[in-house]
Amino acid sequence: MAKTKGALIGCGFFAVNQMHGWQDLDGVEIVAICDRDPERLHLVGDQFGVDRRYRSADEMFDDGGFDFVDIATTVGSHRALVELAASHAVPVICQKPFAPALADAKAMVAAAEKAGIALMIHENFRWQTPILAVRAVLDSGVIGEPFWGRVSFRSGFDVFSGQPYLARGKRFIIEDLGIHSLDIARFLFGDASRMTARTRRINPDIAGEDVATMLLDHDNGITSIVDVSYATKLPEEPFPETFVEIDGSRGTLRLGKDYKLTVHGPDGTTRSVVAPNLLPWASRPWHNIQESVALIQKHWVERLAEGREPDTSGRDNLKTFALVEAAYRSAEYGETIAIADLLA
Ligand SMILES: NC(=O)c1ccc[n+]([C@@H]2O[C@H](COP(=O)([O-])OP(=O)(O)OC[C@H]3O[C@@H](n4cnc5c(N)ncnc54)[C@H](O)[C@@H]3O)[C@@H](O)[C@H]2O)c1
Repeated sequence: MAKTKGALIGCGFFAVNQMHGWQDLDGVEIVAICDRDPERLHLVGDQFGVDRRYRSADEMFDDGGFDFVDIATTVGSHRALVELAASHAVPVICQKPFAPALADAKAMVAAAEKAGIALMIHENFRWQTPILAVRAVLDSGVIGEPFWGRVSFRSGFDVFSGQPYLARGKRFIIEDLGIHSLDIARFLFGDASRMTARTRRINPDIAGEDVATMLLDHDNGITSIVDVSYATKLPEEPFPETFVEIDGSRGTLRLGKDYKLTVHGPDGTTRSVVAPNLLPWASRPWHNIQESVALIQKHWVERLAEGREPDTSGRDNLKTFALVEAAYRSAEYGETIAIADLLA
């Protein structure tokens, strides 16, 4: 069978994981790469044996010859690149955060729909093995109907050395990391209607907030807390683990440090370890995230072949992105924000 051909734009820090993921997938080949930085182009092109290399995305699209494009640049270029893909009718994956603002994200969804192409946001955290394990427990019904939940990511890890741009943005932790935690909350507890948030900046050397506490009212009556921090100095650094707590009508679930999952129900308590696989190219402690990249890519290829909308499509991710926008507004004005008003 002919391979599905892909192209990748943005050969930076995280794109290397995406290139490894594509390389491992049977039936997919990355035939062209693009980066405006010739050094990155050279490095990634040589590492993964890709000969077609471009410094301009326009030129790459003009030459064509690929079935989808994977955008791994930082947020400022996402809208222009997605619209470029749409103008060439090429299905597109776009890294999170979706866009600089909700209005851009809505325009990108509209452009993809008008062009009749698939648009998936690379929202990979819900594809992490431990998060999938939590979802499976909820689906099993063993803890009954959830009524309260918490998605928590608290760390003191230095993310700025690998991604220096994170220290410079006016917005930091909600836009970069909280966006994943909010998507996990939607994945586990359903869509949310209202958001209340508070933020702090503890690290004086960065421009944005590095602590956020968010309270969500979900449509089905669940109340959840999503809390994120890069200012939390723990005796054992948990980066990049997400902890989850859920209380249900019949029991409880706790996902804690070292991927330990405790499920308590009417028939007793089970304790297990739901650790991610360490893929051959992966390295600790990033392996949890790296495996989720491979899993979301597999999902994309399957959905593309079936002609079905991916789970984290642009349309779906608008609802996660609206929570990000709502959190910033709530923190700024000290008010609770209705999500429907933002999505209207
Ligand atoms: N999903 C995840 O788990 C995860 C993890 C880390 C980063 N990310 C996201 O990945 C994206 C990239 O992050 P990064 O840390 O790799 O950034 P980076 O700065 O290391 O890499 C971005 C690359 O894109 C190139 N680039 C930017 N605009 C371009 C354009 N218009 N045309 C061609 N090349 C262009 C830059 O030269 C750079 O090499 C960000 O949106 C970030 O939020 C996601």
